Amino acid sequence: MLVSLRDVCQIAEQKNMAVAAVNSASLEAIRAAIEVAEETHYPIIIQHAQAHESLVPLKYVGPIVAELAERSSAQICFNLDHCEDLSYARHALDLGFTGVMFDGSALPYERNVELSSYAADMCSEYGAGLECELGSMGSREAGEKDEGGTADEAGAIYTDPDQAKDFVTRTGLDILACSFGTVHGLYRGEPKLNYQVLTDIRDRVKVPLVMHGGSGLSDEQYHKSIDAGVRKINYYTYGVKYAGEAVRKMIDEKVAADPNVNIYWHDMTTTAHESLVKTFEHVVTVFANGADPFVI
Ligand code: 13P
Repeated sequence: MLVSLRDVCQIAEQKNMAVAAVNSASLEAIRAAIEVAEETHYPIIIQHAQAHESLVPLKYVGPIVAELAERSSAQICFNLDHCEDLSYARHALDLGFTGVMFDGSALPYERNVELSSYAADMCSEYGAGLECELGSMGSREAGEKDEGGTADEAGAIYTDPDQAKDFVTRTGLDILACSFGTVHGLYRGEPKLNYQVLTDIRDRVKVPLVMHGGSGLSDEQYHKSIDAGVRKINYYTYGVKYAGEAVRKMIDEKVAADPNVNIYWHDMTTTAHESLVKTFEHVVTVFANGADPFVI
């Protein structure tokens, strides 16, 4: 069934866990996400990033995920990730998305407040949840970039806790994406997270917090972030990296056995799907932080 971004994060709040939000730019990833949610009985958030329009256009991914999620026994939220264009958000909501992340973090603060408030009104027309971002992670969100190192090296600006309070009050958002040391894409160095930023924000606002740049961290880093108030963890880059490595290994092994072997496209999609299932099973369980599986 389709569930709203607001509802799923509120349950996560009550259970001191985080919900995995997997960017699913292929049928293999969509399928893996739904299967893992059905099998584990934890909810999952399937995300389509506006930056992935060229990989999988909204007009295809929208109806496919909305229909499959509706038919599934699992609790699935369908979230638009890093949307910078409100007409794109409306199109997604018309197609059945149950959450939108409006990203005005690169805009001047007052403009971010203005457009995020507009996005909040739009989402409430559809009964969908709204996520907004404050602060900057120093890299943009397509997920395939390697701009890493620590967030500081990547030019991040941590979310200011006082400004977060003002932002939440004035926009009416449901969940807040914060910058506290994670970056999108691959980490070149050891990721260093500043949990105090999260604690200071949570002292001022009670909304669920969101970790972007959530792939490539240790289980301990996930658990500490969850204990500091993170309820949604965005996960993409390392999942597709592992799937790519699995495909390469499969091809290398087949070619070593027979240099003239045919490699079929379905060999690659099957291997990628298996790898994504393993990755999603792991993160969904780790992010549950010991909470029992549940049905909303
Ligand atoms: P990663 O690049 O760490 O997977 O983060 C994805 C993300 O935050 C999408 O919004």
